[in-house]
Formats: sequence, structure tokens, C-alpha cells
Amino acid sequence: MAKVKTAFFCQNCGTQYSKWQGQCTSCKQWNTIVEEVVQTPEKSDWKSPTSTVKQVSKPLKINEIDSSQDIRLNSLDEEFNRVLGGGIVPGSMILLGGEPGIGKSTLLLQIALTLPYKTLYVSGEESQKQIKMRAERIQPNSDNCYILTETKTQNIFKQIEALEPDIVIVDSIQTLHSDYIESSSGSISQIKECTTELIKFAKETATPVILIGHITKDGNIAGPKILEHMVDTVLQFEGDRNHVFRILRAHKNRFGSTNELGIYEMQGSGLREVNNPSEILISKKDEELSGNAIAATLEGVRPLLIEVQALVSTAVYGTPQRSATGFNAKRLNMLLAVLEKRAGFRLGAKDVFLNITGGITVDDPSIDLAVVASILSSNEDVAIPKDFCFAAEVGLSGEIRPVQRVEQRILEAEKLGFSTIFVSKYNKIALKKSNIKVQLISKIEDLVGFIV
Ligand code: TYD
Ligand code: MG
Repeated sequence: MAKVKTAFFCQNCGTQYSKWQGQCTSCKQWNTIVEEVVQTPEKSDWKSPTSTVKQVSKPLKINEIDSSQDIRLNSLDEEFNRVLGGGIVPGSMILLGGEPGIGKSTLLLQIALTLPYKTLYVSGEESQKQIKMRAERIQPNSDNCYILTETKTQNIFKQIEALEPDIVIVDSIQTLHSDYIESSSGSISQIKECTTELIKFAKETATPVILIGHITKDGNIAGPKILEHMVDTVLQFEGDRNHVFRILRAHKNRFGSTNELGIYEMQGSGLREVNNPSEILISKKDEELSGNAIAATLEGVRPLLIEVQALVSTAVYGTPQRSATGFNAKRLNMLLAVLEKRAGFRLGAKDVFLNITGGITVDDPSIDLAVVASILSSNEDVAIPKDFCFAAEVGLSGEIRPVQRVEQRILEAEKLGFSTIFVSKYNKIALKKSNIKVQLISKIEDLVGFIV
């Protein structure tokens, strides 16, 4: 019998070592190196029957991409198409990551069921019956969708050869194993090997492959970072499991921009595409409540109006609490310091809680002004008129700074029926005629004058 060959892999970055060591020299993590059995006899993974070789795809530079996009496969899911940059590129390898239970399997099964192409959905996690049950919740009928429950790549390729699907979906890469590697499924060497085999298949037959990948506690795709380097597109499916909204983002996309964003709503019958997110992210209340402000943010290139809620109350304990959901807590502290120093509000002895509604997280700095407005409104217990919205960044000296694509935000606010939008005086606005009043402000004190 051949000698068992082993190697050592860093579980964090995937670097291979010939002997064990305490610290990974590449990513500097301690105790991440684990021995795995590897055996590479004569490699014969995916053998392409010449008949199925259609065309070979190669990664394109963004600006070399043919914008006519006629070669992309249309997934019939507008949000998914948009995030991918206009559809699924033949031969591309797409990795979809996300927390357990967020809806990755649901999303891809739904896409598999609606795709007008012959689709093979390979699952290593659920039985065919379970998938059928899930499918019945989503969409009962599909003639093009084949379900295979198999984890061995060699067997999967055998089935692919027989079926010749136009698209392959694998749920999940961590459950696959290849005969050529002896370590268990989910180990670094298995993930690497199975991905390599699938990439080879994808590139040689121009068949797109979509992989589901689990993520670790800290939000990275489980397995080596190299997995992300190997695939063409990395999508992240995120959201708060207790909320209905799910956001699909591209972290990496060789065939399009990473700015685009897809929004879904989880319903009893699968995921629904949300075409006008602003409308549902803003609660339609009749009464005006203090502490609420609407921010005109931009997610990717899409304007998105979201509601910010603040609660300022006298601290019961010695140290005031500051807590933020969906917003950077450090940035909240900074804005509080600016309010204290530049506008003279004594917030040092107050608890401040901030919440972005809808369970989404915003990094766009243009939300600053709405945060400040909501804090002021709660502190003074004065409601902000519900047809006001805000779009500006706040600087350390209390200046209101301009934000990008302000016209687009103004138009979106106008469309949704807002009467006034507060933006920085330094924004160059080239709007011709609009029904919304654009209030230009330059300092945080100006804002105070308007709302309290
Ligand atoms: P799932 O796709 O299994 O998550 P993942 O593959 O990312 O682990 O999603 C499971 C969750 O979605 C589960 O908590 C139930 C919910 N769900 C719905 O709310 N409606 C539906 O129609 C389906 C199929 C799932
Ligand atoms: Mg799943």
C-alpha cells in the first residue's frame, strides 16, 4: 500500500507547510496549522468530452467588458442579475457566502427553479425530499431543474456528463469531497481540490457553477482565503435573521462592479425581490415621534431612504451607555462629541441608543446628518417633521460636508414625497427643477435652528 502522504495547512489562510509549526508565517495566526492527509495519485478529475466544449472564458478587466451583455445568462431574478453585473457569465465560478439560516439555499433553489436553462442543483446537505418540500413552498413547478444529492465530485461529474446541464449549483462546497484527497470533507485540502476540479469543469465547458460557502464566526468564508481568490465572483448574503430583509452584495466580481446590491424580503413562500426598498424601510406613521430622522443614503449606486432612531435619556448608572445597531459605535461617539463641543448640547451624562430600522447596516457617511438630527430630536423631545430627510456627512469641527451623487438622493426623496432635504452647502447641485426644497446648511448649528 502506498505510504499515506500528509501535509500541514493553515486553517486561516490555507498556506501549506511540510511540517508543523506554532505560528503561520504567512498570516501570523497562532495554532491554526493542522495536519491533513493528502494523496495525489494520477489526477483525472474532470475529463471533458470534446463535444461539450463550447467556449473558454477568461477573466475580463472591468473596462474591457462588452456592455452589450448578450452572452450572459439571464437568471430572471432582477436583483441577482444586477449584483452579478447583468447576468451569469458562462464559465464563471460564483461563490455565495452567508451565515447559516440566512437563506442561501432558498435563494439558489429559487433561482434554479425559475431559470429558463437546464439546471443541476447538487446538494450535500439536504435529501431530495427535503429540497422538494422547500421547492413546493417557493414554486411548485419547474421542468428544467434537476436535483442531485451527492457529495463525491467524481460522481457529480459523471452525472453532469450524462445530463449536460447549462448551469450547476452546489450546496455547499464544504460538504464535497474528492477521491484524490483523503482528508475529510470541509478540510482545507478538500475544499481546495473540489473547487479546483469544479473550476476546471466550468472553464472547459463554459458552464457557470454557483457554489454555496459557509462562513465562520467572524464572517469570513470558511476554508482558505484562497477560495475567494480562485473564484470569479464572491457574493455575500447578509441581513439580520430576525428581520425580513436580506441583502446580496458582491465582494468581488471579475465580470462587473462590486457596487451593486440586491435586496430581498424573506417571506413564507421564499424570497421576494424588493424593487423599491426605500418604501418599505421607512415606517409609515401618522404621528410624528421624536428621535426619528430619515437619511437619504446610497447603497452601492442605488439611493435608499432609511429611518434612523435615537433615544437619549438620563444615565441611571455612573457611566452612560452608548449603543448603536446598524451603525458604527465609534462614529456615534464622535458625533456625540461634535454635538457637545460644537453645538453645546450636554450629552456627556446621557445614555444614547441608536438604531437603523430594517436590520440593515449602513457605512455610507451621508447618514451622519440624520443621526445627529435624530439625537437632537430625542434629546429635546421635539419631533422632526416626517417629510424632512437628510444627506450629509458631519466633520469633526461640526461642518456639514458634501456627499457624492447628491442629485440622485434628492430625486429619490422627491419621488417618495419628502418636502425638504438637508444637504451640505458645499454640494454642487445641478438640479434643474424639482418640487422638493433643498435646504443648504454649512454648520451643525444651522441644523439646530431648523429642528429644535
Ligand atoms: P436556508 O435557505 O435554509 O438558509 P441557509 O441555506 O443559508 O442556511 O434558509 C432557511 C431559513 O429561511 C429558515 O429559517 C426558514 C426561512 N424560510 C422562509 O422564511 N420562507 C421560505 O419560503 C423558506 C424556503 C425558508
Ligand atoms: Mg443551506
